[in-house]
Amino acid sequence: MNIDAIIDQLGGASAVQALLGVGPSAVSNYRIRGAFPEYARVKIWQALKARGVQVDPETLELIGAVAEASSPQTTASTAASSTASSAASSGGVTAPSILLIISGGIAAYKALELIRRMKDKGWQVRVIMTKGGAQFVTPLSVSALSGEKTYTDLFSLTDEAEMGHIRLARDADLVVVAPATANIMARMAQGMSDDLATTAVLATGAPILIAPAMNPHMWANPATRANAETLKSRGMRIIGPDSGDTACGEEGAGRLVDPMAILSMAEQMLPGQTPLKNRRIVVTSGPTHEPIDGVRYIANRSSGKQGQAIAEVLARHGAEVTLISGPVDLPPPAGADVIRVTTAKEMLSATLNALPADAVICAAAVADWAVDGAGKAKLKKTPGQPPALTFVENPDILATISGHPQRPKLVVGFAAETETPVAHGDDKRRRKGCDWILANDVGAEAPVFGADDNQVHFITAKGAVTWPRMTKHAVAEHLATEMIKELTHG
Ligand code: CTP
Repeated sequence: MNIDAIIDQLGGASAVQALLGVGPSAVSNYRIRGAFPEYARVKIWQALKARGVQVDPETLELIGAVAEASSPQTTASTAASSTASSAASSGGVTAPSILLIISGGIAAYKALELIRRMKDKGWQVRVIMTKGGAQFVTPLSVSALSGEKTYTDLFSLTDEAEMGHIRLARDADLVVVAPATANIMARMAQGMSDDLATTAVLATGAPILIAPAMNPHMWANPATRANAETLKSRGMRIIGPDSGDTACGEEGAGRLVDPMAILSMAEQMLPGQTPLKNRRIVVTSGPTHEPIDGVRYIANRSSGKQGQAIAEVLARHGAEVTLISGPVDLPPPAGADVIRVTTAKEMLSATLNALPADAVICAAAVADWAVDGAGKAKLKKTPGQPPALTFVENPDILATISGHPQRPKLVVGFAAETETPVAHGDDKRRRKGCDWILANDVGAEAPVFGADDNQVHFITAKGAVTWPRMTKHAVAEHLATEMIKELTHG
């Protein structure tokens, strides 16, 4: 494997960091070793596939620049069922391959509708049913709709010969667990692998979408809530459940969401999808440096990692992204145009120049003050007479954009707070006139600056939702999901 060529194809080291949720030193180590860790192989294969670069899924050897009709699925799974190859390729474009896990519960019958809708899209759908799932719908009816063998037993030697369970997990572009019972969510959160379904979840490198369905009391139980939070913090998406009458006769949140909603979320999560195509988005990021004289400046600890992750993820969703970055020690993110600036004033004028846009996200840690009268000459030290610096207020970029005649449809800010982040964040949202604020706690107990993960409260006019602590890349993915809803659904 030519690891440098693969890193280039993925958009450089920062893109690989964002993709795998690792730091720069990890990528340097991969280069030195000449190999990626085993767990990352499928993610890399999928990311390359999404960029039209074909590689051998086992060895990651580059096969060609653009995917041809022989899809990776078909070359990889030589013993896959005969219907797989016809479903997976059409006209040189590889159709997405979905692994659908149906766990027990009365809502399992709705999975049949979901399979039908996925097949209508031309997707390949392979299904694993848990023992509980098979009590509600038969593998035969599932196979009739999916056109594939339905997998139910971890230890079936025939299945192993035809399609090893690890391959089943790794060939998927997306894993959908629908309906997901409290039991399978608990087992997934614990990392168990006591049946084929949970083994596949552990072995996959694909994104995972979970659609819970259960009794409202079970959903409300703190144990289930904690499991849901754990799964989310690992980057899995949860859709629903809906509220209303449930099959057990009790009312409350617990119904499986409509299969069409699952389908639409699944579509967004597929690698290579571009729901933000034709949308222009401007992201500010990093610190600003405010000169004291020709050689000194005032700065802050912002690393720029969160803004870069946002720019990278939005570009991957098809947006035309301009990243306006203060001085940072990061390579440019894949897919975004980067404008480098130093001071708050420069950042404001670059942001105004980038308008009109559909959205502006102000993730930069802009200095509130600039040194009054800072010149080019170095201030000389006069013993016993420290200079008395005076400051002038910097322009507020977020507030300026929010009140601008060319205000984008969506303006998003961040709020770094050391106490009561939700209250202060919401106050900032109103004061600055933006639509959403991502408030994070930057107190001594909660390191954010320079860290790879972040804990944010997502604040809108409708209220605040606390997202679990997750990687900055996962925060960017969550934000992108909200933005896709806002910018593409009216
Ligand atoms: N911001 C900006 N221009 C500034 C200051 C802040 O665009 N001159 C933006 C930041 O990018 C962020 C939001 O405003 O999206 C809030 O930044 P923060 O530093 O938390 O707020 P401040 O306005 O500096 O308020 P305070 O220091 O009182 O918390």
